[in-house]
Amino acid sequence: MIDDMLRTPEAIRDAERWTAHNYHPLPVVISSAEGSWLTDVDGRRYLDCLAGYSALNFGHRHPTLIAAAHAQLDRLTLTSRAFVHDQFADFCRELAELCRKDLVLPMNTGAEAVETGIKVARKWGYQVKGVTPGQANIVVAEGNFHGRTTTIVSFSTDEDARADFGPYTPGFTVVPYGDLAALTAAIDENTVAVLIEPIQGEQGVVVPPEGYLPGVRRVCTEQNVLFIADEIQSGLGRTGDTFACDHEGVTPDMYLLGKALGGGIVPVSAVAANADVLGVLRPGQHGSTFGGNPLACAVATEVVRLLATGEFQRRSTELGARLHAGLRSLVGRGLVAVRGRGLWAGLDIDPALMSGREACERLAERGVLAKDTHGATIRLAPPLVITEEEIDHAVAQLAAVLAG
Ligand SMILES: Cc1ncc(COP(=O)(O)O)c(C=O)c1O
Repeated sequence: MIDDMLRTPEAIRDAERWTAHNYHPLPVVISSAEGSWLTDVDGRRYLDCLAGYSALNFGHRHPTLIAAAHAQLDRLTLTSRAFVHDQFADFCRELAELCRKDLVLPMNTGAEAVETGIKVARKWGYQVKGVTPGQANIVVAEGNFHGRTTTIVSFSTDEDARADFGPYTPGFTVVPYGDLAALTAAIDENTVAVLIEPIQGEQGVVVPPEGYLPGVRRVCTEQNVLFIADEIQSGLGRTGDTFACDHEGVTPDMYLLGKALGGGIVPVSAVAANADVLGVLRPGQHGSTFGGNPLACAVATEVVRLLATGEFQRRSTELGARLHAGLRSLVGRGLVAVRGRGLWAGLDIDPALMSGREACERLAERGVLAKDTHGATIRLAPPLVITEEEIDHAVAQLAAVLAG
């Protein structure tokens, strides 16, 4: 097709003209999708190896989730939490059971779940632990990514995310990720929580050293500090278990969930914890108009049911082993390092060859979509419905890009 007959360039120009430039998307304009495949406005097809940063763990338009959404759209979409609706209890109970926790508090975006976790931990600190009023602190990790609100960027160590958004919210202590001694030393009598990602996604799928998560669990228990696991990106099947914490047999006090919980259809996030923690909230102290709305609950209940079968966790383990074997074969042939777990991988490209951005652009030209993060690193997080052949195809296209 001649370039000026394509719809893509004009669609990109229009998008740039009418939006704030807070993203730098790859130059593709998607118009439809199914399973692991996307189609652009010019009819080109792409294998999705990002899955909406893990928001599409079940693939695009999973039939069960789409059916639940359609059925709910025809009945009831929004009530606000001023009234109870008939989709609410099932969702909260089934998610609480999946998490093996007493209670669930539904919100919308991941950042809201993180904010909720911070508020609950502070209130728990004052009311249950007996922390001096106004002195609560939370220990977080270098290289963290927990979202974009003013409080959350206050403890980011990424200057792009943080600079010029002050004044910053106090009450956070940053320690190196994976360093249990540093974390332990940062805890004092006013520490209410440790907030970490069990695997740092945005940082490049960084897996902490073995024993770190059980160590965090032990120290938190000893010091009467809440262990908050941000499983917004790592959770819900992505790593081959329901939660990334499961790999080390660790149960945090609070799970923060989002992304895949909405089935790639609606934004749904949640906090799950026991009653001695989430029970500190009283009416009027926290909420969200759309949090736990009927459409969100109808879709997310089906998400929980899909996860309860264990099928997606199994797929992630088995197909993830294939993905990682393929990627490891490229180390020394254009890749410097490969990290990750299950169907989740961070790849460091040899910076002498090309940037992560350039690699993603070349992959897109070959019909595979992935996204760079931090210089020469690429993140792969394909939908968990991807097949063996599709994984082999993605690895082959990456090999071709790296071979120049
Ligand atoms: C670990 C983690 N926490 C929180 C968030 C924020 O989620 P949202 O973009 O839905 O606010 C993200 C988003 O990438 C994330 O990866």
